[in-house]
Amino acid sequence: MTIRHIVEVGQFDRNWVESLFDHADRMRHLNAERAPLHGRILATLFYEPSTRTRLSFESAMLRLGGQVISTENAREFSSAIKGETVEDTVRIVAGYADGIVIRHYEQGAAGRAALASPVPIVNGGDGPGEHPTQALLDLYTIRHELGRIDGLRVALVGDLRFGRAARSLARLFCLTQNTELLFVSPPAVPMGGDVLAALDVSGVRYRIETDLARVLPEVDVVYQTRIQRERFATPEEYEASRGHYVLNENAFAQLARSAVVLHPLPRVDEIAPEVDADPRAAYFRQAHNGVFVRMALLDLLLGQ
Ligand code: CP
Repeated sequence: MTIRHIVEVGQFDRNWVESLFDHADRMRHLNAERAPLHGRILATLFYEPSTRTRLSFESAMLRLGGQVISTENAREFSSAIKGETVEDTVRIVAGYADGIVIRHYEQGAAGRAALASPVPIVNGGDGPGEHPTQALLDLYTIRHELGRIDGLRVALVGDLRFGRAARSLARLFCLTQNTELLFVSPPAVPMGGDVLAALDVSGVRYRIETDLARVLPEVDVVYQTRIQRERFATPEEYEASRGHYVLNENAFAQLARSAVVLHPLPRVDEIAPEVDADPRAAYFRQAHNGVFVRMALLDLLLGQ
């Protein structure tokens, strides 16, 4: 299977994902003198804030011997402020770079960019839509931590409506076997019907739960997420959804010894720093894995 643009998780199949993960494993030990992307240029075009996605893609490109051009606040400091469309912008940037990672505040913007672009587009998050490379690094981390991606019971917790990372990861589990997903969210931000429909088609079992304490002892993975303050219409609606589910020492005491806790980060108050030193807290290792997964992706998309 050949993939030119990375827009959504539905593009992937199991063999492609396994092969990418094997390549990411090799990237952990890449000889610094090898530079498979020497002479290639990556543009990172970010209309929304980012720490991990932008910098890990840039780090990945530099580690592969390539170079990076970047706009970290394209909403204000690119010609978008003058009214330029995403389509026109990527047509122009494609003349300056061999690939573009784009993050945009509108769902579907990365797909529109891909239709207009003569060079590979990678969706680094499109509003409340998808974050496919985050889902890849999340599943890779599960494989790295637990040694498998099948036969797992996984709780997805927090903002499942606006959280594009949770939405993409749930869809990615469609490629796994014997998985059960437990969705635990405040009432205003449940998992979307589009994702549930995809799980139904793929035969992935899921339950909607409200009591996190009841769920914790029975899961292999907890995927905690931030309540996406920036996507609520009013501060009052945000306040009504925050603080429901917090992972602290008491919550960790309910977890199996072999369980792992992931979070796409950034966190606000949904994981207490007091549990960071617990070996089951895998979220900083998860963020680090993003470099290897994105190296593998860039090598695949931009290598000869
Ligand atoms: N997980 C993630 O997308 O983080 P950033 O918003 O910092 O890129």
